[in-house]
Order: sequence, then C-alpha cells, then structure tokens
Amino acid sequence: MSRKLYIETVGCQMNMLDSELVVASLRKEGYQLVGAPREADTILFNTCSVRQHAEDKIYSALGRLKHAKTRHPDKIIGVLGCMAQKDQRLIFERAPFVDLVVGPGQLHQIPELLRQIAAGGGRQLEVSLDRTAGSRQEVEQSFESYDPLRDEQMRPTPYQAFVRIMIGCDKFCTYCIVPAVRGPEQSRPPEQIEAEVRKLATEGCREITLLGQTVNSYRHTAGGRATRLADLLYLLHDISGIDRIKFVTNFPKDMTDDLLHAVRDLPKCSHYLHVPAQSGSNEVLRRMKRGYRAEEYREMLARIRQTIPAAAVTSDFIVGFCGETEDDFQATAALVRESRFKNSFIFKYSPRPSTKADSLFADDVPEDVKRRRNNELLAIQNAISEEDNQAFLGRRVEVLVEGPSKSSRKQAADGDVLQLTGRTNCDRIVVFEGNRRLIGQLVPLLVYDANAFTLFGSVITQHVGPEVYELALAPDRF
Ligand code: 5AD
Ligand code: SF4
Repeated sequence: MSRKLYIETVGCQMNMLDSELVVASLRKEGYQLVGAPREADTILFNTCSVRQHAEDKIYSALGRLKHAKTRHPDKIIGVLGCMAQKDQRLIFERAPFVDLVVGPGQLHQIPELLRQIAAGGGRQLEVSLDRTAGSRQEVEQSFESYDPLRDEQMRPTPYQAFVRIMIGCDKFCTYCIVPAVRGPEQSRPPEQIEAEVRKLATEGCREITLLGQTVNSYRHTAGGRATRLADLLYLLHDISGIDRIKFVTNFPKDMTDDLLHAVRDLPKCSHYLHVPAQSGSNEVLRRMKRGYRAEEYREMLARIRQTIPAAAVTSDFIVGFCGETEDDFQATAALVRESRFKNSFIFKYSPRPSTKADSLFADDVPEDVKRRRNNELLAIQNAISEEDNQAFLGRRVEVLVEGPSKSSRKQAADGDVLQLTGRTNCDRIVVFEGNRRLIGQLVPLLVYDANAFTLFGSVITQHVGPEVYELALAPDRF
C-alpha cells in the first residue's frame, strides 16, 4: 500500500539535510510526499531544541493534530530530531497521540519503526545514550552515522546540496543544548564524503555546502594521517561538475591559516564565512565558555580580512545572556559596529535544561531588555548590511540561479521570463528578471539597486554597450 507522508522541518541546515535523508529512505519504501498534514497518513516533525520558542511551536503544531488523530486513529504521528532526543518519553506524556519518537542518531531506523507501528506494534521510541550514560565510545556508537540516501526533490534546489562532514559537538558552550542532543563530535571519513559529492555532481548538483556544528574543527584520522577541513576542500575541489563549495558553521578558535589559505587559493570555495562571535564582552564570553576573548575574535577577523579581503563574514549573537550588563551589551554593539558582518543572526537568550548555564547562572535579564537589545543590535547590523550592499551598485556579480523569486512564485508565472533569484559567491541574494532556462546556471549580473538584504540586478548580455562593461569593473568574486 502506498502511504502518504507529510514532513515539517524546523531548525538548522543539519535538520533540513536529515529530513531529506528521511524522505529519501521512505520514498524507497513507496511513500509519496504530500504538501499538507490533512492529506497524509504519516506526519513527521523534525524538531529543534536550541531555543524554547522552537519547541513551543512544535508542541502547538502537535496539539492541532489531536482531533485528526481521534478521527483517523490509523494516522501515524512522529517526532524526530533534537527535541525527540531531549524530551524522549515526555513527548508521549505531553502528546499521548504521538506514535513515534526518534532522536537524530536513529533516523535510519524510521522505515522499520513505521512498519512496526502499522503492524500494531504500538508506540516506538529510539534515542541515543545521554552523554554521561556510558563510555565515550558507547555514546559515540549510539549516534549512528546516517548519510547514504539522497533525494533530489528535497534539496534546497536540484543544483545545491548539503553534505554532512561531521556530527555532534564537543565545545559545550554553557548555553547550548547541541552537545547533549547531537552527541559527541565525530568526523566522517573523507572517502565517504568525496564519494557522496561525486554522486551529487553526477546528479547535476553544482554547489555543495559542507555541514558541521563546528565544521572547521573537522578532523579525521586514519593510518596515522589526519585530514582537516582544508585538506578536504582540496580533495573536493577536483570534482568536476561542482562549481561552488561552502561550509558552515565555523568556530572562531579553529579558523586556522591553512583553512583561510585554502579558501583564498581554491577558486571554487565561496568567500563566505559564518563565524559566530556570540558576544563582544569578555565577561559574557567567559561565562559562555566560548574559549576566546573579544580581542582574539578581532584578531581572527583581521586575519580573515587580510587573507581574503573580499570575504563576507557573518555572525551569530546571543543578547540577554545571564548577567549581561548594559556595558556588556555595548561591548557587543561595538564589535558589530566595527566588524562589518555581511549579516548577523541575533537571538535572545533562552535557558535550556541540563546546560551548564541553566544550572549555574540565573536568567536575570528581563524579557523587555532582551527584546530592546535584540532590536538595537539588529538596527546596527541592518544599517551596515545596507551600506555594504550599496557599494555593489554598478558592479558585476556572478550568481548561481536558484529559481523563481518569492513574489514570482506567488504570482505563479508561467511565462518564460520571470523574476529569478540567485546567490553570489559571497552568499548575497540577487533578484533579477530572466528566462527560466537560466535556473541552475552561473549567470553574470549588473547590480542596479540594493537594500540591507537583497541586491537587484540585470543579466549582462552581449548586446550591452561598452559603457556598461566599464561600470561592471573587473569580474570579481563577490
Ligand atoms: N539561547 C539563544 N540562542 C542560542 N543559540 C544557541 N543556544 C542558544 C540559547 N540557549 C544560538 C547561538 C548559535 C545559534 C545557532 O543559536 O547563537 O550560534
Ligand atoms: Fe552549541 Fe557551542 Fe557547539 Fe555551537 S560550538 S553547537 S554554540 S556548543
């Protein structure tokens, strides 16, 4: 019998990739993907635990399914990912109609678990060991590596794919639940990664984004030889068909010169580096246990700018962390002002159970202060993003065309010429008008307008006069 599957994914790119792999494994079993929960007989939520808000959203989405389950008891409802690992049985208590709870380390078991449920085997729960529930090796083994199957239709676009190079995290920043729910840091063997990228290239994929919670801490040792991220970039760079290589997320202390040199020297490497600072205050950084001081972050940023002058650097910040004073916040604001990040993701601190911060420090910054600091930092960043984007006016950029822009998708344009969106080598979004056959191509554009978030361009064709070429400056890597 063909079953209909609906999957909702929240959270980071790692979760998007996990969902892609779950869908691939279920399609292989004959499942068909549908666009709404009411059309589905199997409903899965791939969840995030990084902030309380993400969890609340999932619990309320689950609440909305309660009646559907009463009316159609054979609908199977599953909770996957970080919240499944964190809350485990509690999910069955809070939402008794849930049939399946599967942590990020057991996703490959889903087809079998669904078969057991359908056969009347009752509720199923599969999660990894807690980090203190066994030896390092036992805990590592309980997070089973899972990357074999890909599903073209679940990728961001057919030309772009995420590739996991490691799982877990060992940094234990005090606010963060990731080391608990995604387990110990483990790097995949380079041969496996290379084989996966080669396969993606044969399927028409042109851009890959290597994923890891601390992707630049990648280290795989075999036969006494260590492979680091820089080595991996050299290895993957040779794969024909792949035009762009990105990697996220970087940990500031592991931003080594050899990595920066690889990014500078390998033309396929995107000059886009996401390196979260989290705070500009040394006191806060110490309480966060980030392992660096603000001046070390600045020094790292200076090395990036020196080695790769055109690099677009982006960051994450947490405002309102335990004990953050107005002076602490101003130190963060100063860091944002001077660093000229392409953009920053700013979050209000959300206490996470079982983290060090939650047990050691009081969540003592009032919600309205967190909100104000969040808005203030965002305003500083947006002004910088806008200013830096304005500098692109009249410049030539090259984009990988991803597809119709949001507004043209809404108008359901059927014509050949429509509003398209693409990304530059530095991860800047450019909207432009073009023929739909440009989708999936690398296309040169001339930028004529810009705001804080988007550049607007027009396709450079051979018919454009010499004066425009003059404006277009030297072809660059923006
Ligand atoms: N509260 C708020 N933001 C958090 N992040 C991680 N943990 C928390 C938390 N408890 C943010 C960090 C991280 C990003 C993915 O989420 O900025 O870089
Ligand atoms: Fe969380 Fe820190 Fe690991 Fe990032 S490096 S996933 S913030 S513990």
